[in-house]
This record gives sequence, C-alpha cells and structure tokens, in this order.
Amino acid sequence: LYIGIDLGTSAVKLLLMSGDGQIKKIVSREYPIYFPHPGWSEQKPEDWFAETMDGLKELLADCDKNQVSGISFGGQMHGLVILDKDDQVIRPALLWNDGRTWEECDYLNHVVGKEKLSEYTANIAFTGFTAPKILWVRNKEPENFVRIAKIMLPKDYIAYRLTGVHCTDVSDASGMLLFDVKNRRWSKKMCEICGVRPEQLARVYESFQSVGTVLPEIADELGIPHIVKVAAGAGDNAAAAVGTGTVGDGMCNISLGTSGTIFISSEKFGVDRHNALHAFAHADGHYHLMGCMLSAASCNKWWMDGILQTSDYAKEQAAITKLGENHVYFLPYLMGERSPHNDPNARGTFIGMTMDTSRADMTQAVLEGVAFALRDSLEVAKSLGIQIERTKICGGGAKSPLWRKIIANVMNLKVDMIESEEGPALGGAMLAAVACGEYASVEEAARKLVKITKTVEPESELVVKYEERYQKFRQIYPACKSLFQ
Ligand code: XUL
Repeated sequence: LYIGIDLGTSAVKLLLMSGDGQIKKIVSREYPIYFPHPGWSEQKPEDWFAETMDGLKELLADCDKNQVSGISFGGQMHGLVILDKDDQVIRPALLWNDGRTWEECDYLNHVVGKEKLSEYTANIAFTGFTAPKILWVRNKEPENFVRIAKIMLPKDYIAYRLTGVHCTDVSDASGMLLFDVKNRRWSKKMCEICGVRPEQLARVYESFQSVGTVLPEIADELGIPHIVKVAAGAGDNAAAAVGTGTVGDGMCNISLGTSGTIFISSEKFGVDRHNALHAFAHADGHYHLMGCMLSAASCNKWWMDGILQTSDYAKEQAAITKLGENHVYFLPYLMGERSPHNDPNARGTFIGMTMDTSRADMTQAVLEGVAFALRDSLEVAKSLGIQIERTKICGGGAKSPLWRKIIANVMNLKVDMIESEEGPALGGAMLAAVACGEYASVEEAARKLVKITKTVEPESELVVKYEERYQKFRQIYPACKSLFQ
C-alpha cells in the first residue's frame, strides 16, 4: 500500500492506493488560513503536521498496516517555512497566494533585473515565490531572519517531521526562485542575492527518489513498519500532473483548486521570452511550463459560501441555461493575480449587469471568469508555438460537469476526465510506488495506472460564442488596472 499526502491550502487530503493503482480510501482534514492584512496569507506548519498525523491514523484505521510500503507528497508550493536551531517554527508560513512582497519583487525584477533572474533560475520574481519572502523577512523582521537555521517548503516540513531529513524535490524547489531549474541544483548567485547560506537549504532529490524511512517513533505512533520509505514528492501541480498522467512531452493538465493552473509537460527545458509562464522541473525527471491563477475554485467558494450563503453548488449551477450568452463578466482576481498579469493589486470585479441580470447569471460569470483567466495563460503557451488539443482536469472544481463544459468550450480543448480528480494525492501515492520499485519510472506508473474515463468535447457553436466573449473579457483588466492601484 502507498500513501499520497496532498498538503493543500484549505485541507490536507490523504489517499491510500494499492500497488495496482486502486484507491482504497481518501481522508481529508481542514486547517485554518489567516489573512492578517489585506493581501497577506499565512498558515501554521504545526497545524499541517497535526492534521496530517490525525488524518493518517484515520486513513490507516481499517487496513493491514503491515502492508504499507511508501509515503509521498504533493504540496502547496512556494510557502516559506523557517525553523530555528532547535527546529522550532519561527513564524507562521507565508503562503503561495500572499501578496505582501511587492517591494522585494520590484527589487529583484528591476534592480537585480529580470534577465539575470531568468539566467540564474529560468524565472522572474512573483510575490508568491519563496525568495522574495526571504527578503521580506530580512527587511521587515530582521530579528526572525537571524534565527533562521533551516528554510523549507510546506510539504518538506511534513517530510522533515516524518523522517528527520531536510529534503526537497526538484519541482517544488523550482518555485523558490533560488533554484537553477535547467541544471536541477541550487543557484549560488540567487542564494547570495537573498542572503541564504547553503546549510540553510534542503538536499534536493528527484520527486520519485526515496529520502529515507519514517522515524521509529512516528512508525510506532501510526502502527506501520519501521522500513516504510518516504519519497521526496512534488509540488502539488507536478504531483497532480503525475496523478492525471500528464508526463512526457506536450501533455496538458488543468487544475481547478484554490488556485487554477494550466500545466504543460515537456521533455526539453524551455523558457518563454517574457517569463509569463513558470519554467519548472517536472516530477517525471523532465520539465514543464505552467500558468497559475491565484483564485480559481476559491472564487466559486467565495461566491457560494460567502455571498450567496449556500452549500448546494449543484442546485445553483442547475439554474444556468445561457451558456455563451452571458452579458455579465467577472474578473477572478480576489487575491491579486499571478499569470499572466503579475499584479498583486488586481481585484475581483463584476461588470455588465442590467435590470434583468439574475443570480444564475452572476454564478455563471464566476465560473466563466475563471475559465477566461485560464485561457489567458493558454494564449501565452500558444504564442510560444505550443499546440494543445486536449487536456486532463483535476481539483475540486473539476467535479462540476457544467464547469468542465465551460472550460472545454472557452479553451476549445477536449477535456479528458480520469477516474479520480484527486490529482496531487494520487500523484503522491504514485511517486511513493516508484520510489519503492513497484514501477520502473513515473512514465510507467502513469501509463499503467491512469485511465481516461470520459472526454468532454468542445461544441463548435459554443466555441464561437465563447470566443467572442473572451475577446471582450480580455479588455476588462487593462481598462480597470489603474483603479486597482
Ligand atoms: C503554483 C501555485 C499554486 C499552489 C497551490 O505556482 O502557486 O498552484 O501550488 O497549492
């Protein structure tokens, strides 16, 4: 048996998979997220670990624990976790969707310079990335900065508590802006720029490599064998790509989680000229490009739970009948936006309402706004000559048949669904299986375990209608930009 741990933003999901890929059980545990100032976003690493341990106990409650062979991860990317010399967490983690580091990003992008950053790391600075956060701690909390003994990413904190090994993997390290993505090693230059010493950083592994075994006291607490291996795992998007079989060359996956991403796997290293897409290492040993929007399924959650105050998403969506004809538009920038605008000050907006606008039109606009914003990143990929005809889909938002249909038609892509939308947790379990030798490679695991169950085809009439609406949507952000400053 293999365990995949998806350390997400709203919850940790734990998945138990048999060697032949059957999902035996899924458990999920929530933890709080703190927004101490507008645009800030934090969580407590100790909460992650406590809920992961509780979740593991529930996951393993009714299985033969002696059969557990490996554990691995998908984890929310970019978060900064800092520990002191006694391994105590110094301050709450700054998350991937935290926008406070705009001054540090300005310094990195314009004083150090985008060309240099791209040369050293294959990427430029975005507020959510880890290096600007380290600079923020250095500038704003110097008393914390001097105490830093170890720097780690969210899932790597869990790996550290489980194994005692300070490790990370190539895909997650890519999002730190301290990593030379092309050569899969830390960038000395970037570490110097950020005042980071090599001993503060983790040892880097490929995602499918074992970093060690669980600590004896952890194994005893969980009732599993002492020889259970822990594999390095991957950032949640690369893990989701593994879980949806998005490996090898030219494959695409869309994730509709708290964030929304479009992920394109590639056998060769490549960077887009404007760095609008992230160029990261993939968990399969190769590379990928990715566009990331900061609020995707979270826009729908905000609208349903927070504004409409309903938990019946399906009922709200059943009232939507005018696909491709909505006059209401929604800019989904509730946490600012990363790809492709790189604007932490961007905000959400409804536009185009009339006296006959209904609740259903607004709900539809939210779903469509997310699809249009993902299309913005697809357009960047197309401008690089990348041709994509189909995509996989995963994440909580992928459970909605209506949203899948909107995505297929707004993007004009065939959307392949696989048995489970649990991308990162399943990918984590698959990486553990590869680390334990159950499969020879990530590609082999994906080929043998991931099956497409259904394809949502774009419909030509709807594609034309959405094309027209998308051309209007893309004019809204430039028109509103100056209002957001
Ligand atoms: C990717 C990103 C998000 C988080 C969400 O660059 O910031 O997708 O990984 O967990």
